[in-house]
Amino acid sequence: MKVILVISLLAFAVHALNNNTPWQADECSEFATSLSTSDIGGSILNSSHIPVKAVNISGTLNIFPLCRLFGKVPYPKNNSIIFELWLPAADKYNGRFLVIGNGGMAGTIDEGNVILNVNKGYAVAGSNAGHLASLNNAGNGAPGVYLPYMHDQEQVKAWIHNSIAYFTPVARKITAKFYRIPPRRSYYEGCSTGGAQGFALAQFHPHLFDGIAAGCPGNWYSHLALSFLWNAQATQGSNTLPQTALDLITQAVLAKCDTIDGVKDGVVENPLLCSFDVSSLECKAPVTNSSTCLTPAQVATAQKIYTGPADLRSNTSLYPGFSVGSETEWAMQEGALANAFSIPILQNMVFNLTFDPSAFNWGTDIDALNEKVGTFIDEISPDLSALKATGAKMLVFQSWTDPFNAAMWPIQHLRQIEDFFGGDVGDWFRLFMIPGGGHCGAAAGYPQVPATWHALDALVQWVETGRPATEMLGTDPSDKSLLNKTSKFCPWPQTAKFKGGDPNNWYSFECGE
Ligand SMILES: *[C@@H]1O[C@H](CO)[C@@H](O)[C@H](O)[C@H]1NC(C)=O
Ligand SMILES: *[C@@H]1O[C@H](CO)[C@@H](O)[C@H](O)[C@H]1NC(C)=O
Ligand SMILES: *[C@@H]1O[C@H](CO)[C@@H](O)[C@H](O)[C@H]1NC(C)=O
Ligand SMILES: *[C@@H]1O[C@H](CO)[C@@H](O)[C@H](O)[C@H]1NC(C)=O
Ligand SMILES: *[C@@H]1O[C@H](CO)[C@@H](O)[C@H](O)[C@H]1NC(C)=O
Ligand SMILES: *[C@@H]1O[C@H](CO)[C@@H](O)[C@H](O)[C@H]1NC(C)=O
Ligand SMILES: *[C@@H]1O[C@H](CO)[C@@H](O)[C@H](O)[C@H]1NC(C)=O
Repeated sequence: MKVILVISLLAFAVHALNNNTPWQADECSEFATSLSTSDIGGSILNSSHIPVKAVNISGTLNIFPLCRLFGKVPYPKNNSIIFELWLPAADKYNGRFLVIGNGGMAGTIDEGNVILNVNKGYAVAGSNAGHLASLNNAGNGAPGVYLPYMHDQEQVKAWIHNSIAYFTPVARKITAKFYRIPPRRSYYEGCSTGGAQGFALAQFHPHLFDGIAAGCPGNWYSHLALSFLWNAQATQGSNTLPQTALDLITQAVLAKCDTIDGVKDGVVENPLLCSFDVSSLECKAPVTNSSTCLTPAQVATAQKIYTGPADLRSNTSLYPGFSVGSETEWAMQEGALANAFSIPILQNMVFNLTFDPSAFNWGTDIDALNEKVGTFIDEISPDLSALKATGAKMLVFQSWTDPFNAAMWPIQHLRQIEDFFGGDVGDWFRLFMIPGGGHCGAAAGYPQVPATWHALDALVQWVETGRPATEMLGTDPSDKSLLNKTSKFCPWPQTAKFKGGDPNNWYSFECGE
């Protein structure tokens, strides 16, 4: 005990004498002890030195020695947020501070994305978004389940709007103290709810980051929930679309539109160029086999999903519908996503647990949802002028065949932003569309499509060279026989044009309109 104390004091003394020497990863606990709560704005819960290959997060081992800290930051009404900060050894550190967002209802830290980026040399922080997983039923929202965090307005506002801003300054201050120099740049990356958190940073906290990467963004969260509910209601009983029917539709779409871009790769490059009429698949009576044709009810159902939810008072769109080619990914729209998100949100935040979702009024109840939920969890202002003024860059990415989110929403939102700014915003805001991509990763029906998207690399290059990101690399398809396949993703409205050569190599494509 005494020996340890003497060594710590010595380490502390050495650092006190030489203020420029970064702390060593194996001095993690001494470093943690040196931090004062009032100075950093939060408290350290624990710290550990992690030698090389000592942690394994879902199969990924740390390749650098690390100092790993857990901390806690208070926020209004007696709440607190738990965060983690992983600091690679100073000689492995790339000088960049990165914050990782959350998925779904949060409550847990996305350590999988933390370790992937720590292994590239980033100092990486992530948080639970301001509430424990025990307050959201471990992320498993379901009809009739009470979710305590949805009843605490501060926790609801923290979840998407504010949590990143609560802990980022604290984690960044700790990072600066560890390396004895502030990070050169600060980045944020998140997908799904994390994509929504990225838009919240842009709208409400525009001064925190040099670059924001926001993927498959649920930033119109309340109406995304309406989209889940609409699709669930559209697919009940005889209107169900079994996987055989979904596959049938997508196969017909591909037969018609796969080669519009000149490459037969099992993907529609630009669904907006594909004019496909699902009624062409209607059964010629009396044959009704969902592997070969659709009943009239199924045709009508698919049309409802392509159209998306509408306010029945005015027949105006509440959220875009799904795009052609995405049908094979729709299974979760047929109830699972409404059960996991829409019904829990309605029952906990708008009505009460006895609310019957089939009684949802597609008129007045929308007003109630906007007021009681949208106000606190949406971030859809096209006025991102404060972000633009900081010089920060925002890179959004969205998959065309996302099983959760209608792919047209980010395109529609980009148009709203362009309208606000009176024209092109590509010098600071870009949207990359991913043909055949899933929700923040692979789409089950498109295993040949590279499912790791190098959005952060494209963003870093943009921020640090000033040259806008003109393309985004995709690697690692889930089909392991295509291990080395790479894809090029382009800033909308550009798409990848085949130049000739190996269609499995991104160099064979160029972005163009
Ligand atoms: C550190 O604190 C976090 C958050 O309270 C906890 O989950 C974790 O188990 C702790 N780790 C150690 C090594 O004590
Ligand atoms: C890391 O964890 C995965 C399971 O997530 C396991 O399959 C693998 O064997 C582990 N690797 C090591 C080196 O422990
Ligand atoms: C604040 O939260 C702590 C820990 O959750 C609890 O012990 C304390 O009673 C709370 N205080 C108030 C005023 O609610
Ligand atoms: C439906 O058609 C598929 C493909 O032609 C066939 O394999 C399947 O047996 C048929 N199912 C029924 C119930 O007829
Ligand atoms: C509602 O709007 C949709 C799309 O904008 C249109 O196709 C449909 O005909 C309209 N329905 C009614 C009843 O006006
Ligand atoms: C739940 O809401 C319904 C309909 O608004 C109302 O009749 C009922 O009393 C409420 N139940 C509780 C426990 O508040
Ligand atoms: C992938 O690329 C590596 C290195 O270029 C090569 O050794 C390997 O054979 C390739 N694998 C496949 C499946 O093409």
